[in-house]
Amino acid sequence: MQANVVVVGSLNMDLVTRTERLPRPGETVFGQSFGTVHGGKGANQAVAASRLGARVAMVGCVGSDAYGVQLREGLLADRIDCLAVRTVPESASGVALITVDANSQNTIVVVAGANGCLEPEDLKACDQVLQVADVIVCQLEVPIETVGYVLGRGRELDKIVILNPAPASGPLPRHWYGAIDYLIPNESEAWALSGVTVDSLESAELAARQLIEFGARKVIVTLGAKGALFVSAQRVEHFAAPRVEAVDATAAGDTFVGGFSAALAAGMDQDDAIRFAQVAAALSVTHAGAQPSIPSLRDVQGFATP
Ligand code: RIB
Repeated sequence: MQANVVVVGSLNMDLVTRTERLPRPGETVFGQSFGTVHGGKGANQAVAASRLGARVAMVGCVGSDAYGVQLREGLLADRIDCLAVRTVPESASGVALITVDANSQNTIVVVAGANGCLEPEDLKACDQVLQVADVIVCQLEVPIETVGYVLGRGRELDKIVILNPAPASGPLPRHWYGAIDYLIPNESEAWALSGVTVDSLESAELAARQLIEFGARKVIVTLGAKGALFVSAQRVEHFAAPRVEAVDATAAGDTFVGGFSAALAAGMDQDDAIRFAQVAAALSVTHAGAQPSIPSLRDVQGFATP
């Protein structure tokens, strides 16, 4: 299989608890349920792109534990090429401790585990996969030098390079921006990268303009139920979100990024690709969990706007 979307990033086992409300620091609350769910921002985006029509290859690392086997098998079941997913000997797989409250808000603590072992050498070893792709996607749950390498190589190869800067805790290296075609942050990531507090459409535009100033070609700020804001040097456009009943927002951003990548790889016009990704993300919040919540192409095509 020749993949047209390559996702470079994390694979995590999500350890998910549902509670009435999130605990305050130092507080203990009772949970209503617990389960393990396949996740990780990279793997979620790969699954979304595959279910939404792309041929996908994943580049990442899993541990030599049972989670590693399960995470790989999960991606294979979603028809994702895992030849460049390396098992790191004597290492634990990445995990994410996720708590979801009754309002579908969540908190997430990620322990990188084997994801922290993904090196530029792993990418050099599968350069052929990058060469044949149309779209290269990465996030920030793997080492920063690896992300920097992927962005630079993607630019050299003249691919569509997408960075979802999640999770973001501060500014990105300034020289990265020139390699990025689409930078897709949420509100808090846009703030972390730009220094502009994002709490309205106007402030989202200001933040995005700053990121364009840094060198990104196009920025899409995802705003949850408030939609998405597209900003380039020439154009600003707000895309309203489809209205749905939210159950769990985990992986909604990943579904947007994976869906958008798949749509671009299929040759869809950019604005249609944003709308397509929004429907996919909206559908994902109507179901619990990361990968189990990601819809199929048929689900998205069958979605009727109310
Ligand atoms: O974006 C959601 C993902 O973030 C979860 O699946 C979890 O693994 C963390 O990486």
